[in-house]
Amino acid sequence: MSASGWVNDIVTDQSSTSDDVQQSSYYLVCEDNLTFLESISDDSFKLIVTSPPYNLGKDYESRMSVDEYVELQSRTIRECIRVLHPNGSICWQVGNYVDNGEIVPIDTILYPVFKSAGLKLRNRIVWHFGHGLHCTRRLSGRYETINWWTKRDDYTWHLDPIRVPSKYPSKRYYKGPNAGKVSGNPKGKNPSDVWMFPNVKSNHPEKTIHPCQFPVELVERLVVSMTDKGDKVFDPYMGVGSFAVAALMHGRVPYGCDTVPEYVEVAHHRVIELLKGTLKTRPMGKPIYDPAKPNGGHG
Ligand SMILES: C[S@@+](CC[C@H](N)C(=O)[O-])C[C@H]1O[C@@H](n2cnc3c(N)ncnc32)[C@H](O)[C@@H]1O
Repeated sequence: MSASGWVNDIVTDQSSTSDDVQQSSYYLVCEDNLTFLESISDDSFKLIVTSPPYNLGKDYESRMSVDEYVELQSRTIRECIRVLHPNGSICWQVGNYVDNGEIVPIDTILYPVFKSAGLKLRNRIVWHFGHGLHCTRRLSGRYETINWWTKRDDYTWHLDPIRVPSKYPSKRYYKGPNAGKVSGNPKGKNPSDVWMFPNVKSNHPEKTIHPCQFPVELVERLVVSMTDKGDKVFDPYMGVGSFAVAALMHGRVPYGCDTVPEYVEVAHHRVIELLKGTLKTRPMGKPIYDPAKPNGGHG
C-alpha cells in the first residue's frame, strides 16, 4: 500500500529558510522495505542511513528469536548493499536487544552480515545521550552505535562540514619549521567517533508520535560528510522521516519506506512543514543543556 507516491519538484513558498529546500524532490511510501527495494536499480543511493527495529516487541515489530532477527535483517541489508552506490556509505544505527536482563549488542550480531558481503567498517560511532530507562540490576544504557560501512576505499567523504571548534584554537607550534604558526586547523577539529546530543524524548522539539525517532542532527552529520548535493539518500525503516528532513535541509534527495501508515503520514507532514519553513528541529552543533551554566549554556 502506498500512502502517497512520488512527490516531485515541490517549490516552497517565500517563508522557506534555506536555498537547499527551495526545489525539492522526495519519495516516502508506506511499504515493506523488501517490496520497495524490488523497484530500485543497483548502485542508486550514495547514503543509506537507518535505525531498524531492535526486536524489543515495540508496537511496530513482532518479537522473534535472535537467529530469525538476523536472517530478516540480512535480507534487507543484502538488498541495501545492492542498491548502494560504489562510492556510497551505509550507516546502521543500533542499540541492544534485551532478553530477560541479558543484552545482545545488535551491531555485534550484524557485523558478519556486512563483512561477509565485502563491506569495510570505517567507524563505529558511539552516540551518547543523557536520558532513558533506569536499570536496577545493571547500569543504565546511555549509548547506541552508528556503524559506518563502505563498499570501496574511494568513498565520498567531506570532513569540513562536520568539524567542531578546537579546544585551543590559538595553540601554536613551539619549535621546528612551523614554530609560531597556529598548529590546529582553523576550520576546527575532527569531531571524533563519540557523538553527544540528546535523544528524542518528550521535551525534545522534534518529538512526534513515534516512540523511537532518531534526532535530525544525527542524520545531518552523516548526510553532509558522506554525500554531495543532489545525491539520493535512503532509509529502509524511515519511521517519521527524520532522515528525509535532514536530507532535504541539505539539498539531497530522500527515498524512504515504513510499514506503518501513521508514521508515513507524519513523515509527509514534517517534510511539508520543513518546505514551508515552519518545522522545528534542534540545530546541529547546539550545546547540550547544562543546568550548571546560565540559561543551561544556551546563550
Ligand atoms: C526504530 S524505528 C525508526 C525510526 C526512524 N529512524 C525515525 O526517526 O522516525 C523502526 C521503524 O521500522 C519500521 N519497520 C519495521 N519493519 C519494517 C519493514 N519490513 N519495512 C519497512 N519499515 C519497517 C517500523 O514501523 C518503525 O517505524
